[in-house]
Amino acid sequence: MLNQKYVDMLSKKSVIRQLSEFATARGKEIGYENVFDYSLGNPSVPVAPEFTEGLIELLAKEDPMKLHGYSPSLGIPEVKEAIAASLKERFGLPYTADCIFPTSAAAAAIAHAVRCVTVPGDEVLTFAPYFPEYNPYINDSGAVLKVVPPQTEDFQINFDEFLRMLNPKTMAVLINTPNNPTGIAYSDATLKKLAKILSEKQEEYGHDIFLISDEPYREIVFDGAKCVSASTYYDNSIMCYSFSKSLSLPGERIGYIAVNPNCKDAAKMVNMCGQISRGIGHNCPTSLLQLGIARVLDKTSDLSVYETNMNLIYNELIDLEFTVVKPGGTFYIFPKALEDDAKVFCEKALKYDLILVPADSFGCPGYFRMAYCIDTEKVKRSLPALRKFVETEYPNR
Ligand SMILES: Cc1ncc(COP(=O)(O)O)c(C=O)c1O
Repeated sequence: MLNQKYVDMLSKKSVIRQLSEFATARGKEIGYENVFDYSLGNPSVPVAPEFTEGLIELLAKEDPMKLHGYSPSLGIPEVKEAIAASLKERFGLPYTADCIFPTSAAAAAIAHAVRCVTVPGDEVLTFAPYFPEYNPYINDSGAVLKVVPPQTEDFQINFDEFLRMLNPKTMAVLINTPNNPTGIAYSDATLKKLAKILSEKQEEYGHDIFLISDEPYREIVFDGAKCVSASTYYDNSIMCYSFSKSLSLPGERIGYIAVNPNCKDAAKMVNMCGQISRGIGHNCPTSLLQLGIARVLDKTSDLSVYETNMNLIYNELIDLEFTVVKPGGTFYIFPKALEDDAKVFCEKALKYDLILVPADSFGCPGYFRMAYCIDTEKVKRSLPALRKFVETEYPNR
């Protein structure tokens, strides 16, 4: 018998994927260069050349048995050491290899983290708007994802609602900063307040509450801002990192978990990840990729195009009198739609070959997301289409 749970999921295809498929089909009719496709968060800049050069060298010189052999189930020790050293240097905490578990990017990191610190029925709180894949990531483990409503003035944490929703069943809080879909980075004040509340609630409830910090956009920050890791603000935290966006490697599926070294169970949790992998069939990223990534831990692709694109779009949106908070990073922007139903708004935009994503599935109806990881030249060409769309469809607003 087929498992009905997954059969049912087949009819709930992601809106983002559907829109992206629409964009591809439309591209076949009018040329993809004429479709202003802001649907998918797929990096638009090439991988850092140092990564490619490193891989070529590894393939030419490294022992093939090491390159293509099974990775130890907790990851290759020298790779874990290199990751720990890089984190220690950057964030000033005493990371060691024991805190590190290489994963198939952030998706697998979150899948492991949630299984480490919850049992079925426990609650995991996250904050709207949030990455819709958190639903399967969390709910498939048996834990229950609960969503704290948004604070739309600035998209920082809505602490009143958070405090209302925290309860003794809350075993983990999942955050993502800089954030998909808003592009907003949590302020230092927000992260400190969050850490304080979690510490107090751990005490009150008499059990740990873990902070799972999903950080794939950590390196994509604007205006000269410093990269911060939210997981360094709170001892019971698990960093879920990915090279998908910083090095433009989403297809390679490579990232890691780094448990905060001040968490008393850090080494035990990494060991537990090895056991969790057995159950979910993960078994570490490829040895080749682990060794390749270890050589470029502090490198990124040239990410500057995202800030250029953001400024072009943000300025146009402001000129068109949209309500929008200026992103502090990522390659997303999150304006309020010009009518209550963002799905209708985005459907009307299709007539102008603008592919915008309504934010209902991000837990924030009435808003839409633009993923501006596209060529700057195309962004520039899309702006007159955006203006025409607004002026034609909403002349009297
Ligand atoms: C917020 C967030 N978390 C996690 C992921 C998963 O990314 P990956 O598994 O490629 O690291 C994404 C991908 O877009 C994302 O936007």
